[in-house]
This record gives sequence, structure tokens and C-alpha cells, in this order.
Amino acid sequence: MEASLSFMSLCSHTTKAEVDLGALAYNYHQLRQLAPPSVKFLAVVKADAYGHGAIPVSKKMEELSADFLGVASLKEGVELRNGGIKKPILVLSGVYQEEVEEVLDYQLTPMVYRLEIAEALSVAANKRGKKIPIHIKVDTGMGRIGVFFEEAPAFVNRVRRFENLEIEGIASHLSTADEGNSSFAEEQLKRFSRTIEEMKKLDIDPPFCHIANSAALVNLPAAHFTLVRPGIMLYGSYPSPSLKDKVSLRQVMSWESRIADLKKVPAGYPISYGRTFVTQRPSLIAAIPVGYADGYNRLLSNRGEVLIKGKRAPVVGRVCMDWTMVDVTAISGAEVGDEVVLMGSQLGQEITPEEMGGWIGTISYEILCAVGKRVQRIYKG
Ligand SMILES: Cc1ncc(COP(=O)(O)O)c(C=O)c1O
Repeated sequence: MEASLSFMSLCSHTTKAEVDLGALAYNYHQLRQLAPPSVKFLAVVKADAYGHGAIPVSKKMEELSADFLGVASLKEGVELRNGGIKKPILVLSGVYQEEVEEVLDYQLTPMVYRLEIAEALSVAANKRGKKIPIHIKVDTGMGRIGVFFEEAPAFVNRVRRFENLEIEGIASHLSTADEGNSSFAEEQLKRFSRTIEEMKKLDIDPPFCHIANSAALVNLPAAHFTLVRPGIMLYGSYPSPSLKDKVSLRQVMSWESRIADLKKVPAGYPISYGRTFVTQRPSLIAAIPVGYADGYNRLLSNRGEVLIKGKRAPVVGRVCMDWTMVDVTAISGAEVGDEVVLMGSQLGQEITPEEMGGWIGTISYEILCAVGKRVQRIYKG
């Protein structure tokens, strides 16, 4: 009983994600200088700041004087306010009818793209004798949320009749800013500029016009308008490899564990569920206490790599809920307790979230957001 308890505590404390707030600050300064100082900066901290922890990241952003924070949902905005965040918070996905009172309670700024929501917000604000700042979301070709760009001026003209709303911003989102060919992004910019011009003709000229994500902040100065909205690059990850030469970033999160068990097995020995890996030679197999319940994707089975003693060790067999096995036969001196880097650097070697994404056909965003709740975040800097 005692032995199994001490083993349990080894498991639960050994897999951790270290979040380097110094690297976050470095990336912020790198990105901040890409747009003129007059352009406002919204730090995208949705999805728990891409897995890094929304409150510590937002506190750092406040300290660095970011102008806005961007969350996906009302719930994420409430979490930031409860965590003591004072800066304006834009709810990028908008809000639902039943959430309008909380928009007021927590002083959030919703993105608006449906008339019934505009009306509900205005009615709620009117009851309290207040005005709610809103940003109008326009779809210029992303094909997701937002008022179709050709209908946007008429929509805004209707929304402005709600006296308890203040149209503070107009926004859109680019679908291809990270691609080499910028022609569709430029078409989206044209549509967005045309919408702004049409609104000006109606005497509607909100202070914040924004469409630039990280890639557009770097690649498309014409997309800066009066506010930029980067996310992924704050966290040190590149939306496309071509951006690496344009701005230097530092990886903010590293994900580490330890070797919990190590054993010599003969050739022909199966590893993990389904026996999808069978040793070809006498092998040394390390068990690492991380699994898909921690966000270590099961598709990394027989594909991923980790760093041990500054060398790469391949994942062998299926990733389990709580365990992943790696072949350390080629790593001399590997021992129980050795540090295992799942993502990050060790003795000059590095595994980036982009590389991990590449192994399993996804993007760094998903790798970072997936790092699970039971992985303890440790903040430095
Ligand atoms: C509306 C909106 N704005 C900005 C961003 C930030 O994009 P990125 O992380 O590519 O910089 C996102 C991210 O998906 C988004 O959905």
C-alpha cells in the first residue's frame, strides 16, 4: 500500500508544464514593435491563453501595457475578471441572449453580429442606465461568424439605433494570412476597407478597426488598421515556417516529465496496448507518466519523440491514458528519474509544438491548447 502511494505521488507531480513569463514578455515586445505605437494591441488569451494559463498570462499582459485582452466566451471573460484583470476584455465569439446581464456585471465588450443580441444587450443596458461598448464582427471571407460584408453597413446602421450600445469597434478575421500567397488575404482587406468606408459615409467611424492575427501582424502591414490581435506568436510559436526569418521568438511553454520505470526486454517483446510495437533487438524501454489524458495525443503512438540526456528517443507502442513508453536503448546511462522533455529544449536539442504538430498532421495551436488540466503549470519570470 505504502509503495503504491509513493508511486502515485511520483506520477502526479512529475509531468509539468513550465511557462516562462520572461519569454512571453520578450515575444510581446517583438510583436509590439511590428506595428506603429498608435496601433492598439489586443493579446489573445482565449482557451486558457492557448493552454498557458489565462490569468497569469493576462496579468503579464496588463503589466506590459497591452491595451485589450481577447477571450472566446463570456465564461472566459468572467474568469479573467474574477482573477483581478482590469483591462478591457473583448469576447471574440460574441455572447448569447441569456448572458447579457453578465456582460454588464463583468464589464465585458462583446463582438456582435446578430440583431437580436444587439437588442438584448441594449435592453439590459437601458434598465441599468448604462451603455455597452460593442465591436461589430464582419465576415469578409472567413466563412465563420460575422455579418456578410456586403450587408454590414446596413446592419451597423440598424444597430446604431440602439441607444444603449456604443459601436466601439469593427472587426473581421483572415483565413489565409499565414500562407505564402497573399491574394485572398488582400481581397479580404479590400472588403474590410470598403465596409469601413461605407460606414464612414453613414457617419459611423469606430475607433478600433481590426483584422490582423499574428501572421498578418508580421506579413501584412496594411492589415494593422487601428488595433492588432495576435495570439499564437505571443506564445513563441510560428503560424507558418516562413515567419521564422522575420521575427525571433522564444518558446514560452516547455513540457517535462521523468522516467518512472525502466526495463530491459528481449527482442520480440510487445510494448503497450494492441502490441503495435514489437522490439527488434534486446531493448531498454522507459515508461513516462504522461498520456492522452494529459493531452499527449494518442496519434503520437509510434511517431513522437522525446528528449532524454539531450538525445531523441522514439515513442514506442500506443500512448495510453496515463503512460507513454519510449525506447532508450541508444541513450547510454538513462536512469529512472531522468528528465524527459516532451516539448521544449534540453542540452541544445529542441522539440517545438510545430514539430509535434507535424508528426500527427495538426498545428502547434492544437498541441498547446491540448496540454491537460492535470499537468501542473509552473510559472517562472
Ligand atoms: C478572432 C480571432 N482573432 C485573433 C486570433 C489570433 O490568431 P493567431 O493565434 O493566429 O495570432 C484568433 C485565433 O484563432 C481568432 O479566432
